[in-house]
Amino acid sequence: MKKRKIGILVGSLRKNAYSKSVANCLIEIAPEHFDVQIVEIGNLPIYNQDYDDEEIEEYSKFRETIKSLDAILIVTAEHNRSMPAVLKNALDVGSRPYGKSVWNEKPGAIISQSYGTIGGFGANHHLRQVTSFLF
Ligand SMILES: Cc1cc2nc3c(=O)[nH]c(=O)nc-3n(C[C@H](O)[C@H](O)[C@H](O)COP(=O)(O)O)c2cc1C
Repeated sequence: MKKRKIGILVGSLRKNAYSKSVANCLIEIAPEHFDVQIVEIGNLPIYNQDYDDEEIEEYSKFRETIKSLDAILIVTAEHNRSMPAVLKNALDVGSRPYGKSVWNEKPGAIISQSYGTIGGFGANHHLRQVTSFLF
């Protein structure tokens, strides 16, 4: 059976991030027919529309990786009742140049976590708004 490729975007750059632990647990328990990997987003320069006309190596590699995936899973912390900037940046990078978004029609899912009592609801909520437009 052809393996389904799932990419995980981790919304935390912290060395000991809980989000990364959750992502790694999911990789460990994924069924055989899923190839699950974390997609690096911490190396992407902050999105600038001027870059749409340039070749930015990190952007190109990231966009090609996303295109090759069957589905996206986002595992994230919450920053100030929203998604961490690194995650929004990755979503913006993948969405451009205009008309060439790599997110189109990708099945996706979101896991948010926080030690706060509402489990990263703000990040989750904002991600739903953005991904229901992009994916
Ligand atoms: C800049 C910043 C803002 C944060 N804002 C919130 C917040 O609004 N709500 C919340 O529940 N937690 C907030 N937190 C806490 C993190 O979401 C929480 O510690 C999370 O578990 C960290 O995940 P990580 O280990 O994957 O980085 C914030 C943390 C930081 C660094």
